[in-house]
Order: sequence, then structure tokens, then C-alpha cells
Amino acid sequence: MEKTIKKSNLKSSLFEPVEKEIALVEETLKETTEVEYPWLTDLLDYIVDSGGKRIRPALTLLCGKFHHYNLDTLIPMAAGVELLHTATLVHDDTIDKSDKRRGKPTASNIWGGGIAILAGDYVFAQSAELVARTGNLRVIKLFAHTLMALCTGELGQNLNSYNPDETQQGYFSRIAHKTASLFSTATESAGVLSQAPEKAIQSLKNYGHNLGMAFQIADDILDFTADENKLGKPVGSDLIQGTMTLPSILLREWYPNDTSIEDVFKNNGHNGDNQQQSLDLAIDIIHNSDIIPECYRVARTFVSNAQQAIEEFPENASKQALVEIANHAVARQA
Ligand code: IPE
Ligand code: IPE
Ligand code: MG
Ligand code: MG
Repeated sequence: MEKTIKKSNLKSSLFEPVEKEIALVEETLKETTEVEYPWLTDLLDYIVDSGGKRIRPALTLLCGKFHHYNLDTLIPMAAGVELLHTATLVHDDTIDKSDKRRGKPTASNIWGGGIAILAGDYVFAQSAELVARTGNLRVIKLFAHTLMALCTGELGQNLNSYNPDETQQGYFSRIAHKTASLFSTATESAGVLSQAPEKAIQSLKNYGHNLGMAFQIADDILDFTADENKLGKPVGSDLIQGTMTLPSILLREWYPNDTSIEDVFKNNGHNGDNQQQSLDLAIDIIHNSDIIPECYRVARTFVSNAQQAIEEFPENASKQALVEIANHAVARQA
């Protein structure tokens, strides 16, 4: 229940200038689940209608409002971006063996990994079909490059798992690929489709990139600090899954003599009771040091960069919403 309330709050306050259009995106998403086979419809319905915040399609719509606001192309693009995100999460949860997302069991938890991967592939193809509906070669290419970037980010994360020596540089590059790439595609494509001047397209792209970076850093902080019920997915799972993020990288940098993370990662995380003890210790240090405030400081620099990118845009409700969404990216609890 709480998840639903949060979601509508988010929409009514931050997405207000595009609220009606978001409803059209929802309709388009719903249509994609109406396929020939009822068993596939069930599967797609479950995956697509599962309480996501819909932040990426809202960004596409808001960013499309500064020039020629053409819903014939912006709605399929926004829906395509959301489906690309959705498919990514289905695969991510399968790879991460995550049981819960958006407060519900994941597709892989219900149907098993094989089905979840195939269903994710199906949704990837549907997202490509939606983007192709725009008839715009530039955004179709952008979409293909984004999918490559997402896979690069996820591959980088998985090939590097249980490596306690991950650097900040490696981390920032990884989250640029796995998260910021899709945020910047959501915003850049809106510029392209609304026929904005090239300079404005680049500003929107820049806004999306920086917002995506801040959003993922916040997600990585919340993995250590959030309330699981509010977040709708388990907390504390990044370290268990062998993923170094900004808080754990800072722990290694600031406390070089501490071995808690190395101990968690020993034997690829199969270290029995000792693993839980080491994990508790790592979490304890992260909570009782300046690590979390420092991570928020870093996230806020990306928020400022995002806001600066659109500084010269006209003052209107969409710009105000974009500024507030950037603030919310680091203030959110879910
Ligand atoms: C989750 O994205 C994955 C990350 C990039 C951290 P969201 O937090 O936007 O997920 P939903 O769609 O609202 O569930
Ligand atoms: C989400 O990343 C997947 C992508 C951005 C491709 P995370 O692994 O950090 O997201 P959660 O924590 O599972 O939502
Ligand atoms: Mg994950
Ligand atoms: Mg995460």
C-alpha cells in the first residue's frame, strides 16, 4: 500500500506538468502486454505493471516540452525508454538472484531464471519496436548504443564482482554505463524528437547524464541506509553480491587497515558465519563514519551539474519540475 501512495505522491508533485501524458504512456505500456498468448500476457502484465516510479518516461516528456512538443513521437519514445529500463531490471534481478523488487516477488523468483531472461528479451524487443515508431534514425541509433552501454555496465559489474580493489574511477565509469546512459537517452531523445537546436539537445543530454549519476549513487547509499519496506527491495545486498559501490570504496580508502570487505568477499562470498560478522562490521563502519555524508556530497555535485546544464532554459513548469526531480534524486527514500 505504502509503495502505491509514494508513487502517486511522486507523480502528483514532480511530474505534474506531464501527468496526462504519463497516463498515455501507461496506456501504451498496457497495449504492449496484450499479445496473442494469454500466458505471455500474464507474464508481461506482471513485469510491466509493477509499480515503478516511471521517472524516465516523465523525463522524456518534460524535456520534450521546451520546443516542438509532439506526442506522436514522444509517447512511444517515453514508453520505449521505460520498457528498456523494465527489461534491464528483469535481467538484473535474475543475474543478482534478487527475490524482491517494487515490493513484489521478482519475475525470476516466480517463473525461474530461464523464463525471466526470455521474457526480458521479449520486452527489450518491444522497447526497440516502440522507439522505431518514432521513425527517427538518430534516436534509434541512440537506443542501440544505450543498450550496448547498459550491457557494458552490467558486464563490468559482474566481471569485477568480489573485487575489493574496485576504484572510484571504475565505479563512476560503471554507473555511467549501467544507469546514466539510459537517463541521458531519456532526455537527449526528447531534445532530438522535439527538434531542439543542437546546443539544447546537448544540455538535455548533460542534464540526464548527471541526474542518472546522482540517482545511482543515491541508490547505492540507500542499499546501506534504507528501510526495506519503503525501498521495496532488500537492503544490504550489494556487498553480499560482491558489488563495490561508493560507500564501500570509501571504506577501503579511508580505513586501509580494515579487512572487513576483503573478509566478506573471501571465497566469493562463501565464508559461512564469518561472512555475516564481517558484513556487520563493514556496515557498522559505514554507518558510524562520515562515509554516507561524503557520498551524499558527491551525489549533490552531480545534482548541481544537472541543474546547471539546463540553467539557460526558459523558466516554466517543466524546468521547475526538472530542477526538483534532480533535488529529489538524492532526497528520496525509495
Ligand atoms: C532502479 O531504478 C535501478 C537503478 C537505476 C538504481 P528505479 O528506482 O527508477 O526503479 P523503479 O522503476 O522506480 O522501480
Ligand atoms: C540496476 O542497478 C540495474 C541497472 C541500472 C542496469 P542496481 O543493481 O544497482 O539496481 P537495484 O539495486 O538492483 O535496483
Ligand atoms: Mg541489482
Ligand atoms: Mg542497487
